[in-house]
Amino acid sequence: MRSEQPQTIHLKDYRAPDYLIDETHLTFELFEDHTLVHAQLVMRRNPAAGDGLPPLVLDGQQLELLDLHLDDVPLAAGDYQLTDSHLSLQPTQARFVIDSTVRIHPESNTALEGLYKSGGMFCTQCEAEGFRKITFYLDRPDVMSVFTTTLSADKQAYPILLSNGNPIASGEEEDGRHWATWQDPFKKPAYLFALVAGDLWCIEDSFRTLSGRDVALRIYVEPENIGKLQHAMDSLKKSMKWDEEVYGREYDLDIFMIVAVNDFNMGAMENKGLNIFNSSCVLAHPDTATDAAHQRVEAVVAHEYFHNWSGNRVTCRDWFQLSLKEGFTVFRDAEFSADMNSRTVKRIEDVAFLRTHQFAEDAGPMAHPVRPDSYMEISNFYTLTIYEKGAEVLRMIHTLLGAEAFRKGSDLYFERHDGQAVTCDDFVQAMEDASGQDLTQFKRWYTQSGTPRLAVEDCYDAHAKTYTLTFRQSCPATPGQERKEPFVIPVAMGLLDSHGRELPLRLAGEAETAGTSRVLAVTEAVQSFTFVEVPVQPLPSLLRGFSAPVKLHYPYGRDQLMFLMQHDSDGFNRWEAGQQLAVQVLQALVEQQQRGEPLHLDGRLIEALRAVLADETLDQAMVAEMLSLPAEAYLAELSEMADVDAIHIAREFAREAIARELFDLLWARYQRCREASRSTPYAADAAQIARRSLQNIALSYLMLARSEEALDVCVEQFEHADNMTERLAALAVLVNSPFDADKANALAKFAEHFKDDALVMDQWFAVQAACSLPGGLERVQALMHHGAFTLKNPNKVRALIGAFANQNHVNFHRIDGAGYRFLADQVIALNALNPQIASRQLTPLTRWRKFDQTRQVLMRAELERILASGELSGDVYEVLSKSLA
Ligand code: TRP
Ligand code: ZN
Repeated sequence: MRSEQPQTIHLKDYRAPDYLIDETHLTFELFEDHTLVHAQLVMRRNPAAGDGLPPLVLDGQQLELLDLHLDDVPLAAGDYQLTDSHLSLQPTQARFVIDSTVRIHPESNTALEGLYKSGGMFCTQCEAEGFRKITFYLDRPDVMSVFTTTLSADKQAYPILLSNGNPIASGEEEDGRHWATWQDPFKKPAYLFALVAGDLWCIEDSFRTLSGRDVALRIYVEPENIGKLQHAMDSLKKSMKWDEEVYGREYDLDIFMIVAVNDFNMGAMENKGLNIFNSSCVLAHPDTATDAAHQRVEAVVAHEYFHNWSGNRVTCRDWFQLSLKEGFTVFRDAEFSADMNSRTVKRIEDVAFLRTHQFAEDAGPMAHPVRPDSYMEISNFYTLTIYEKGAEVLRMIHTLLGAEAFRKGSDLYFERHDGQAVTCDDFVQAMEDASGQDLTQFKRWYTQSGTPRLAVEDCYDAHAKTYTLTFRQSCPATPGQERKEPFVIPVAMGLLDSHGRELPLRLAGEAETAGTSRVLAVTEAVQSFTFVEVPVQPLPSLLRGFSAPVKLHYPYGRDQLMFLMQHDSDGFNRWEAGQQLAVQVLQALVEQQQRGEPLHLDGRLIEALRAVLADETLDQAMVAEMLSLPAEAYLAELSEMADVDAIHIAREFAREAIARELFDLLWARYQRCREASRSTPYAADAAQIARRSLQNIALSYLMLARSEEALDVCVEQFEHADNMTERLAALAVLVNSPFDADKANALAKFAEHFKDDALVMDQWFAVQAACSLPGGLERVQALMHHGAFTLKNPNKVRALIGAFANQNHVNFHRIDGAGYRFLADQVIALNALNPQIASRQLTPLTRWRKFDQTRQVLMRAELERILASGELSGDVYEVLSKSLA
C-alpha cells in the first residue's frame, strides 16, 4: 500500500545504473510460515556511469533484513539506510560483494507478485518489479547478471525444486528436507528470475535443434492435470521449429520447462528456461477445453517461447521500452498462429479485438504511446497498446520493408544486441541498417498516441483514364498530446472492375504496372495517388489485411459493400465489407430506436448473409465469421455517445430477423455440421474447428426462433457432444434463451459434472455473467457466494466480475447505477488483496465519457468513492487519478 502519493517516472530521466551485478548467488530456505533468502551479489562500479563511488541504492520492499555484509564485514545499523523501498550504503571500492539475508512471507502474499504460494506450491512472478519483494537488488532490466540458485524445502511436500538454467547439484538433509542448485549461464535481468517448488508431475519430450543439439522439454503440473498437457507439448515443439525456420532462432539451454499454476495475474511468463503459466494457458483436453482455448494455449506457449530471443537474449533497457519485447513477440506469435491455422481467420480475430478494445483504450484516459513517456505504476502499462498496437507497428515495418529485408533486420538486431538491454530505437536502427530505408517519420508510431483517422476520396477521369485516391489523415488529441504530426500509413490496396476483376496497378510516372495489389505509403496530412490507364471506373479495396491500425473512412454504399463481400480477392477485406455493411445497417436501427420509430432492417444485410450461407466453396470458418454481427462493444466504440440499450435492442432485432429469414439454410447447415461431429472423432484441427464454429453460430441463430425443434437440437448437442466446444456453446445458448427449466437443468448438470475442474467452472461462471437477460447483476451477486468462487483467484475474478463488466453491457450499465456500484465494491476489496487485478477490473468505469449524462455522473461517483475508500495501491490510484483528471 502507498504511504505517499506515487511518483511519476519519466523516460527523459533515464540514467545508466551506477553499479552492475556480475554474479547473483541465491539460497532460498522455504518453510510453511516464512522463507529465508540469502543473496550474494558480486558487484562493480559501472564504468559507463561516471567517476567516483556514489552511494549504492538497492531496491527492496516488504523485506525483513536479518543480516548484511559488505566484503565479508558485517554492517551495523549505522552503516546503511533502510526505507520501505530502498537500502542504501556507501561502497569504498569499485568492486565488492554484498551478502544479505531477509525473511519474507510467500504464504500470505495475495498480490501474486514476487514469491508466493499457489495452492500447495511455491512460485514466483518477478516481471516487472517483483524481484525487489524477494531480496535487495538493482531491480531494473538493464542490470544483467548470471544467477546460481539453491532451493531447500521439505522433501515430501515439495519433491520438485526448479529454477532457471541447468540443474548442477542436489542433496538431502537429515531433517526430511532436500535441496537443489540451478545455474543459468546466460546473463539476465532479475525480472526473468523464477523458482518453483511443489508436488508436481511432468510430461517429457525432446527437441533436436537445427544444429543438432537435443533439448529436454518438460511440462510440470499438479498431478490431477497430468492428462491435459499433450497439446501444450505439441505447441512447444511446433514453436521451436517455426522460430528456427522463420527467424533462424535456435534454443540455447539443454532444458526448457513450463510449469502450470492456478493463481496467476496474467497469461504466462517467459522466465529463462522456466516459463510459468496460468493453467488456463497450458491445460487443454477436448473434454474440458474449447477450440478457442486450444488455440490460446498454442499461441501463448509460442509467445513465451519466442521471448527467449525477443525479450531474454535481447532485453529492454527500461520499462518504457516494454513494447520492444511485447509488440515484437505478439507479432511473432500472430504469424506463427497464422501459419499453423487459417491466416485470414486469425487476422479477422485479431483485428476485431484490436478495434474493439485497443481503439477504446487509445480514446480513453489511459491512452499512451507504444513507447510511453511516463508512468506511475509499470504494471498498469501491460496494455493492449503496448502488446496489440505494438504488434501492429511491427507488422507495418514488415509490410513496408518486405519479408526479406525484415528478416535481415531481425538477424542484425539479434546479432548486434545479443546479451544487451536495448531500446525501440535500437530495433528500428537495425531495420534501417539492414534495409537501407529511412524510418525516421515512421517512428512517430512509437511516440504519438491515439488512433489515426484516414479519410479517402476518389475521382475517376473517364477521358484521361486516370483514377486518383486522396488520403486525409488526422489524429485526435490524447492525454498530454494536443497536436500530432502525420504518420507513415501503409495502405495495401487493389482496384476492382464492375465484374469484380482486379485491375493492374500503375501509378503516374511509373514505367510499368506492378501487380494488382500493392502498398501505398501515405506520409502526408493530405496526399493523392493517381493511377493511369484505368479503363473503367473502379471500386477500391482499401487497407487490405488491415495494413495499418487506423480508422478508415471511404463512403462505400451498401451495394458496393455487398459487391466487395462477394468479389474482393483479399479474404480479410471480404469479411470487412460484411462488417461495414452490418455496422451501417445496425447504426440505422439504433437511430430508429432512439427516435422511437418502429425498427426496419435493410434487407440487403439478409441477402448478403444468404449468399454467404449458400456459398459451399467458402471456408466454414469464414462463413462463421461473416455470420457474426459486430459486437455490442465495437458498436459502442464506434459511437460518439454509446447508447447501450439501443445498441442491444438493434443488434438483437437484427439477429432475430436473420434467424427468421434464413432459418432453413441455417438449419440445414447446422444439421450437416452436427452430423459430421457425431460421426467423426474430435480433433482440434483447422477444418474441424471451422466446422464447429459454423455449427455453433448457426445454433445460436436457430435458438432465437424459440421453437421446440430448436430447443431439442440444442439440448441434444449439450447432452451428447463429445467435446467442450460444442457443449459449452449449447450451454451458452440455453442460458440466453427463455427456456428456464432446460437452462437450470443444464447449468446444474454441468456444474455437478465439472465441479472439480477449476478452469471449466470458470467457463460456467463466465457464461452466466455474460447473459444479457434482465436480472444479470442479481445473478452475478448470487454466484459470488458459490463455493467455487473466490476473489483470491484472478481467473475467477475475470470469469465472473470481468465477464459481467466487459461483456454484459445492458446489465452492467443499468440506469440505476447498481452495476457500477457492484464493480466499485469489488475493486475496493481487490485493492487490498491484489492491486494488479484491482486496477485491471477498474477499466470499464474509466470509460465514463462514452456514456450519457446520467451514467457519466453515476460512474464518476463510483470512481470518487473508490478514491476516498482508504489506503489505495499505486496501481489503482494511477488509474483513478487519470480517469478523473
Ligand atoms: N511478459 C509476460 C508476457 O508474456 C507478461 C506478464 C506475465 C506480466 N505476468 C505478469 C506482466 C505480471 C506484469 C505482471 O507477456
Ligand atoms: Zn510477452
